[in-house]
Amino acid sequence: MHLHNPTMLASGVHGSSLEKVIQALRVGAGAAVTKSIGLEPREGYPEPTLVDVEGGLVNAAGLPNPGAEEFAERLAQINGKGLPIFVSVFGGDEKEFERVVRILDGNDFAAYELNLSCPHVSGVGTEVGHLPEEVSRVTRVVKTATDKPVFAKLSPNTERLVEVARAAVDAGADGLTAINTVRSFPIDVEKAGPALSNGFGGLSGAAIRPIALRCVYELREQFDVPIVGCGGAATWEDAVQFFLAGANMVQFGTSTIKKFDRFNDVNLGIISYLERKGFAKLEDLVGKAHA
Ligand SMILES: Cc1cc2nc3c(=O)[nH]c(=O)nc-3n(C[C@H](O)[C@H](O)[C@H](O)COP(=O)(O)O)c2cc1C
Repeated sequence: MHLHNPTMLASGVHGSSLEKVIQALRVGAGAAVTKSIGLEPREGYPEPTLVDVEGGLVNAAGLPNPGAEEFAERLAQINGKGLPIFVSVFGGDEKEFERVVRILDGNDFAAYELNLSCPHVSGVGTEVGHLPEEVSRVTRVVKTATDKPVFAKLSPNTERLVEVARAAVDAGADGLTAINTVRSFPIDVEKAGPALSNGFGGLSGAAIRPIALRCVYELREQFDVPIVGCGGAATWEDAVQFFLAGANMVQFGTSTIKKFDRFNDVNLGIISYLERKGFAKLEDLVGKAHA
């Protein structure tokens, strides 16, 4: 897969409309990931589903999405020929993942990202993605259901990060995305209770960047596959941190809520950093923080 630049829009932050995905590509992202799509339509959780915290956001949206059939129609409607769109998919087990992929696969998009890492919906996400055996089954089945590249999106909420990644890579994953949100439980003092309707949520934004960098670093120690860094990136400096830790591409999520149109600035910053430091190409930077 050839992308024009190493910046991407992260999954889900702007809901399940494809407009934002296409808009991200228009304003300079090298690729863009859709909201995670499951087999059946889901409404998600009641409000409040999002709270501001220092250094980021905690969300528990509950994976609202139109379901695979409806989303397949939307994909068919856009003129997606050749567009670098990654479709994020989730399921409760390998059979569900396979059905979702078979419904979506006829459409024109670049790759899949397997959401093995949502920390706040029971039965899916981390409940699948923290178990190497499940991850292995899901990845294997998805790889047989499609010829498109498959990226496994990993959770930071487990000590078994490398084990889970190995299960995905051994089962044929073409790349790894790290990380999804960090499991949290924000409290509202005035309500004297949980701030989110679901109680538990996922922390995103600047606060989690060092955690994401640690995960990318640990993965790059073990694997040669492409790694997509994700978590708290907003600027070119943040992107460079991810490259140094071992990422080949960097996703931007929460930071695009405040300023969507940031990809060109990031790309220009990366280019002038490469020039200033005398690196001939981006690959020369990838993994440089490793001894
Ligand atoms: C409101 C919101 C919705 C999200 N929805 C999804 C989703 O559907 N699928 C997914 O894999 N990640 C989802 N994420 C996680 C992001 O894609 C990303 O992994 C995480 O927010 C960390 O990156 P960031 O700090 O740049 O936002 C969501 C995050 C937010 C804030």
